Amino acid sequence: MHPVNSILRHSIMANTNLANAKTGKNDEFYTQYSDIQKEINAYLEYDPNVFRGKTVLLPCDDPEWSNFTKFFAQNFEAFGLKKLISTSYAVESKKIKDWQPTFFETDSPYYDADKSRTNGKIFILDEDINGDGRFNINDLQWSYLEGDGDFRSDEVKALRDEADIIVTNPPFSLFREFMAWMMEAGKQFSVIGNMNAITYKEVFPLIRDNKLWYGPSISSGDREFMVPESYPIEAAGWRIDEKGKKYIRVKGVRWFTNLDHGRRHEPLPLLTMEDNIIYSKHKEIKGKQYVHYENYDAIDVPYSDAIPSDYEGLMGVPISFLDKYCPEQFEIIGQTQGDSGKELGLKPYPRELKKLNPSLRDGQLYYIDENGIPQKPYARILIRKKQ
Ligand SMILES: C[S@@+](CC[C@H](N)C(=O)[O-])C[C@H]1O[C@@H](n2cnc3c(N)ncnc32)[C@H](O)[C@@H]1O
Repeated sequence: MHPVNSILRHSIMANTNLANAKTGKNDEFYTQYSDIQKEINAYLEYDPNVFRGKTVLLPCDDPEWSNFTKFFAQNFEAFGLKKLISTSYAVESKKIKDWQPTFFETDSPYYDADKSRTNGKIFILDEDINGDGRFNINDLQWSYLEGDGDFRSDEVKALRDEADIIVTNPPFSLFREFMAWMMEAGKQFSVIGNMNAITYKEVFPLIRDNKLWYGPSISSGDREFMVPESYPIEAAGWRIDEKGKKYIRVKGVRWFTNLDHGRRHEPLPLLTMEDNIIYSKHKEIKGKQYVHYENYDAIDVPYSDAIPSDYEGLMGVPISFLDKYCPEQFEIIGQTQGDSGKELGLKPYPRELKKLNPSLRDGQLYYIDENGIPQKPYARILIRKKQ
C-alpha cells in the first residue's frame, strides 16, 4: 500500500477531447457531497452507532475525485469506523474513457502508466500512517488492483465479503446485478438508483418483504450529478460551473437501502374514506366514489395522501407511495408491472373492451370510468392496511 499525500487535494486534470461515447453514459454520474451527507446523516440520526466498529466498502467509485471517499474519510473518527475501503474501475474498462490520471497518481513514485489505464485502484484507511494521532483523509493508502476493479471480480468480491456496509452510486446499467451481488452476501447497504428499479422482478420482492426500502433524503424532484466533460448533453437541465466541471440534473433518483431510518416509522396521516370524499383536494376523489378495478378485488387510489385510513381491502397506489411507506401502517402485497399482474391473478379483460381502449393488456389493472370507458391506471403497488 502506498501513502496518499492528501488525497483529493488535487482537482481532476481536465484534458479531454476523446470520443464522445454515448453507450453506457448513464454509468458515469458522480454524486454530490451534500447528497451523500444528507442521506448518511439520516441513518445516524436514527442510530448514532450505525457505523461504529464497521468496515465500509465504497465500490464502483473513483476515489481520487469521489465525494463518497472524501465524506467517509473525513468522518472516519466521528463515525467510529474500523476500516474504509474504496475501489475504482479502470479507465480502459469504462464506457466513457475521457478521464485522465490525477496529479496525485502521476506525481506518486508508485505511478505506473500502463496499470493506470488498465487496472482499478484500491484506497484503504485503517491506520494512522502519518502518526499525527488522528485517523483521517491524510491516512489513506492506495495501490493498483490486480484486475480492472469490476465489482464481479474475485478480488472485489473478497472486499465485499470483508465489509459490513456497502455505500455507492453503482453503474446504472448493472443495477440489478449490483443489487443481487450485495444481497447474496447478506450485507447492509445504501446505494443510489432510479426509483423505477423497484418494479424489477429482482428488486420488488425485496421491497415487499421489507428487506429493502427507499432512503429518506430524496423523495421528489431531481438531483444534480457531475458528468465527464465529453458527456453528451441532450437533457434540458445541465450547467458548467466556474471550474469548468459539467453537471446534469437527473429525475427519479432514490437511495435504496436496508439501513433503518426514522421516516419509515412515521405513519402517513390519513382521512377516512368518507372524509376524503368530502374534503379531498383531488378532483378525482372529492364528491366521487373510489373506483374498483374490474379485474382485481381492489380499489384505485391515485394519490398516496388520498389512501382511506379505514379501508380494510386491497388498494392500488402509485409507486411514489414508497416514499411514504411505513411497514407498521401498511403491508405491500404486490405490483402490476411486467408479468407480476398475471402472477397476482388479474383476470383477463373481455375482448370486446379492446374497441373502447386498444391499450388494454392482460395482466394489467383496469377500471371503467364515469363514461363507461375502460381505463388503465399508471403503475400501481397493491397494499393493505396492517391488521
Ligand atoms: C454512477 S457512477 C458513480 C461513481 C461514484 N460512486 C460516484 O457516485 O461519484 C458508477 C461508476 O461505476 C463504474 N463501473 C461501471 N461498470 C463497473 C463494473 N462492472 N464494476 C465496477 N465499477 C463499474 C463506472 O465507470 C462509474 O465510475
